[in-house]
Amino acid sequence: MQRQMKDQIDKIIYEAEQFVINTIDQLEYYKIRFLVKKGLVNQLFIDFKDLASEEKKILGKELNILKSKVEELYNNAEVELRSAQSVKEEINPLPGYYSEAGSRHAISVIIDEMTLIFERLGFSVASGPEIEDDWHNFSALNFPDNHPARDMQDTFFVAEDRSLRTHTSSVQVRLMEEGNLPIRSIMPGRVYRNEAISARSNCFFHQVEGLYIDKGVSFSDLKQTLYNFVQEFFGSDTRVRFRASYFPFTEPSAEMDIYLGLESESDYKLTKGTGWLEILGCGMVDPNVLENCKIDTTIYSGFAFGLGVDRMAMLKFGVKDLRTFFNGDKRFLEQFSSL
Ligand code: PHE
Repeated sequence: MQRQMKDQIDKIIYEAEQFVINTIDQLEYYKIRFLVKKGLVNQLFIDFKDLASEEKKILGKELNILKSKVEELYNNAEVELRSAQSVKEEINPLPGYYSEAGSRHAISVIIDEMTLIFERLGFSVASGPEIEDDWHNFSALNFPDNHPARDMQDTFFVAEDRSLRTHTSSVQVRLMEEGNLPIRSIMPGRVYRNEAISARSNCFFHQVEGLYIDKGVSFSDLKQTLYNFVQEFFGSDTRVRFRASYFPFTEPSAEMDIYLGLESESDYKLTKGTGWLEILGCGMVDPNVLENCKIDTTIYSGFAFGLGVDRMAMLKFGVKDLRTFFNGDKRFLEQFSSL
């Protein structure tokens, strides 16, 4: 009996010493295991009563040592836990990081809206690099060697034969070179030109260009596609007109205007007093361009167009100064957060 109890005392001391107390919960488990009425220590005191008085003399001392040891372990752990917690409480009052939700940029909203309309007409979406070589940005597109657009005044060069693309027509060349005909794609993207920055022009802007190459594509397909787009984007009663124009890569070429009217002062300014605003350039892809891209011009023909996104966004949202889209003023940008 005496021997047995001595073993138990040793066991309990060992277990109490090994007991891991890192949390308030663990502290509570410890208490329940060793220190409550039905805990291990009290159980030994109950058994103690049944011992012979000889044995009591020897074991009484041991039992008391056990009790104070187990209690001491408990008290130390509690003190430690409490002080760790008070450190935590000191940190807690600091405010958390508040991360503001961003929203889509007005220009992206417009690009998505335009894309959706062209997708309904069967166009897919393509993209290409913003740094281009001379071939894709100019030569393949039939720009003569001495064309002013190649000039330093228009083009940002980044290396001998590398510039920031001046239009997304470079992606058209890449698509045609891939040669998966027919092609019916739009290519939204950012383009760069070395222009004086003002309320109406910037050194970078955005285009949605389109290319359709197939057997028997004609100018009337081009007109119908663009009419359709304008009606969906600006409304079914929008008046449009085509004017003959020139681009090296299309023949014949045209520009399309929409009628804004002359109701407000900004209409006057925007349309230079005519009521008409140019929104895109277009034309039948020049056979030279098709041949540059190894497309058989006896079988295939096509049209291309290029829309200025930023101007569309200005019109849609009534924004008077292009620069406000890009100067990062949150008060301006937040106006579009619900779109
Ligand atoms: N690439 C022309 C521009 O940037 C737009 C355009 C595209 C014109 C396709 C005709 C055909 O001004």
